[in-house]
Amino acid sequence: KYTLPLFGKKVMVTAGPTYEAIDPVRFIGNHSSGKMGFAMADELAKLGADVTLITGPTAQKENQTLLRIDVVSAQQMLEACTSVFFEADITIMCAAVADYRPKEIANQKIKKQADSLVLELEKTVDILATLGRNKKENQILVGFALETHDEENYAKGKLEKKNLDLVVLNSLNDNGAGFKSDTNKITIFNKALERTVFEMKSKTEVAKDICMAILKISK
Ligand code: C5P
Repeated sequence: KYTLPLFGKKVMVTAGPTYEAIDPVRFIGNHSSGKMGFAMADELAKLGADVTLITGPTAQKENQTLLRIDVVSAQQMLEACTSVFFEADITIMCAAVADYRPKEIANQKIKKQADSLVLELEKTVDILATLGRNKKENQILVGFALETHDEENYAKGKLEKKNLDLVVLNSLNDNGAGFKSDTNKITIFNKALERTVFEMKSKTEVAKDICMAILKISK
């Protein structure tokens, strides 16, 4: 009898950017399109997983049946993640979460005044690191890394510091890889710090490669 490899597994995926409000009409955001996270969620669902997708604001649509939770800010993403993570067998964190947010959100639109304006920012919670600290023996946690320099060392450092099982490095140095493009070029590191380098591919094909790497270490 044939069963799908992830049938019965609960999987959590994060995707997209977060928006951090400055005032009622403005925010600090980033160029994440959400494409990689949505591709991951769709591929995992195709493999039979019971997927919960937690996404920041994006124009993407899921193609498979899954539970989608829409959030805006890093704080909302943290709350959604902590409520889902404890029962997830596998978690893949593709979201480009803001590292800083305005310390105060103005109640009213900030008016144009002096020639310069100083916004004070405060750190957001590192969601991935928080989950890593709470990870149980039977849970698999996968993070992404996007670096502009010394990328392999940062990726390996992240794997250890955030208690990950796999880290997916995508290089901004490769044309056609990263944020808005439909293609990506990745390197996967496992816990033994073994490296697998992949060719430039569509994000759907990249998602399949990541799924295979997860299946290899699946418990
Ligand atoms: O440390 P860095 O932000 O480069 O790590 C990237 C990884 O951490 C990604 O998997 C991203 O989804 C996750 N992350 C997070 N919460 C943050 C910052 C990053 O979950 N506040």
